[in-house]
Amino acid sequence: MDAMNKDASKLLHRLAEADQAHLLRFWDQLSSEERAALTLDLHGMDFQELQGFFKKAMEVSHHSSQDRMDDRMEPVPREVLGSVTRDQMSVKSWEQTGMRCISEGKVAVVLLAGGQGSRLGVSYPKGMFDVGLPSHKTLFQIQAERIIKLQQLAEEKHLNKCSIPWYIMTSGRTMESTEEFFSRHKYFGLDKKDVIFFQQGMLPAMDYQGKMILENRSKVSMAPDGNGGLYRALKNQGVLEHMQQMGVEYIHVYCVDNILVKVADPAFVGFCVQKDADCGAKVVEKSNPTEAVGVVCKVDGKYQVVEYSEITMETAQKRSADGRLMFNAGNIANHFFTFSFLKDVVEKYEPSLQHHVAHKKIPFVDDKGQLVTPDKPNGIKMEKFVFDIFQFAKTFVVYEVLREDEFSPLKNADRQDGKDTPTTARHALLSLHHRWVLNAGGHFIDENGTRVPAIPRVAAAGSDGRTNLKDRSDLPIKCEISPLLSYAGEGIQALVKDREFQSMLIIDERGVHEQVKNGL
Ligand code: UTP
Repeated sequence: MDAMNKDASKLLHRLAEADQAHLLRFWDQLSSEERAALTLDLHGMDFQELQGFFKKAMEVSHHSSQDRMDDRMEPVPREVLGSVTRDQMSVKSWEQTGMRCISEGKVAVVLLAGGQGSRLGVSYPKGMFDVGLPSHKTLFQIQAERIIKLQQLAEEKHLNKCSIPWYIMTSGRTMESTEEFFSRHKYFGLDKKDVIFFQQGMLPAMDYQGKMILENRSKVSMAPDGNGGLYRALKNQGVLEHMQQMGVEYIHVYCVDNILVKVADPAFVGFCVQKDADCGAKVVEKSNPTEAVGVVCKVDGKYQVVEYSEITMETAQKRSADGRLMFNAGNIANHFFTFSFLKDVVEKYEPSLQHHVAHKKIPFVDDKGQLVTPDKPNGIKMEKFVFDIFQFAKTFVVYEVLREDEFSPLKNADRQDGKDTPTTARHALLSLHHRWVLNAGGHFIDENGTRVPAIPRVAAAGSDGRTNLKDRSDLPIKCEISPLLSYAGEGIQALVKDREFQSMLIIDERGVHEQVKNGL
């Protein structure tokens, strides 16, 4: 430490007070650049606040691992629930309300894209992933094109030029590459001013004693602070002010990894607006008691998401009179907020939200400065969740949609019989588009000219998110429809009605393209 300048010795003092002096244990071996970088990182940290986060998160984690929720839970009451199947007659009216709000420029979308995508295992942001569709469009492009189409539909219906601002949350690790990707692709046809990037916060990974972990001799291991980091970022990055200036009244929040996401879904927005809700959650039915999904329900009279690990099997298996699981509102992190609710959350409630603890295997440097990759969890990452704010809603509603139409997340890399993989995501989208063609009066034939049965042998992934392909005839029809042509299956009748197609079929703004070839 001889060579330490005054600033560094002040830093050492602060670190010693916070019981983090181990972070400087390689100081003497660092180059001046490494010292400067480490000093800069540590200067920006509020050690007291971090210790507070750690203590509370560990306390909450300890209690929730002991308390069972079972006796305190109530299912979502029917009167706050809207369902695309059970309330089919109302969907058109909800959609009209949503479209009107969009045409008036009142609807914005927030994309949660700050995650590390560690299970998928690619080095770039998940939104840049190509799941292998015939068009090779990435998740970002698909979502951008859905926004463009929706703007067009709202404009055509209300003869009013409108835009849907798209707020994209990234993190320290994904910001630069995300912005560069959008710029390189000319914002996929969107107006650049309507695509607004902002960055969520990062927190240090800690060991079980609350000591920060070094990922190399001069760098603290940092991770984004969870998708609930949204609320702090909205404030710190001036996003709320921007929304206010744009006249945004309703916000749709969703995750980057759902290939089927209906961005700014007018029916969901319209349902929430008609119900005068300040907060809404889109859900899919949990149909299998062992499915690893959180459920939206009431706990002690307040809405929240209860994770599958927080209830007993007995509760998970309970059924209502209609035979469905009693706790079946599967959370898919797809939400509606009014601007004023979001503002209240950001200004009043965010600080009271607790971090959750994620036990992780965190690579660290040992005393010799060697990198060690542990084979069991050795520390924690602290995260807030986007749905932690349901408890503050005055009027909370739940909107139930069909999994095969709206939810297929990309979480894991491909492997045989894998769940939530590029293959399951691709099949889910192709299968949806196949059904759009059938619903619009089109047909598919095989290489012998025989009509393929209307009900595909393999639809989207099953309720466990898996597809199980036994042989090539199980492969879904390869049919992709550009979002620029159709947002939700509308507008394709003139192109497909009473026609017969062979897979693979691509329908886009330039027309219908058939290629007689299969193999996914
Ligand atoms: P996941 O919790 O599935 O995490 O995120 P992930 O980063 O995609 O993947 P793993 O767990 O590292 O494998 C659900 C959604 O929340 C976003 C993700 O980008 C994804 O859209 N998210 C997650 C954030 O925006 N910030 C975070 O800190 C964490």
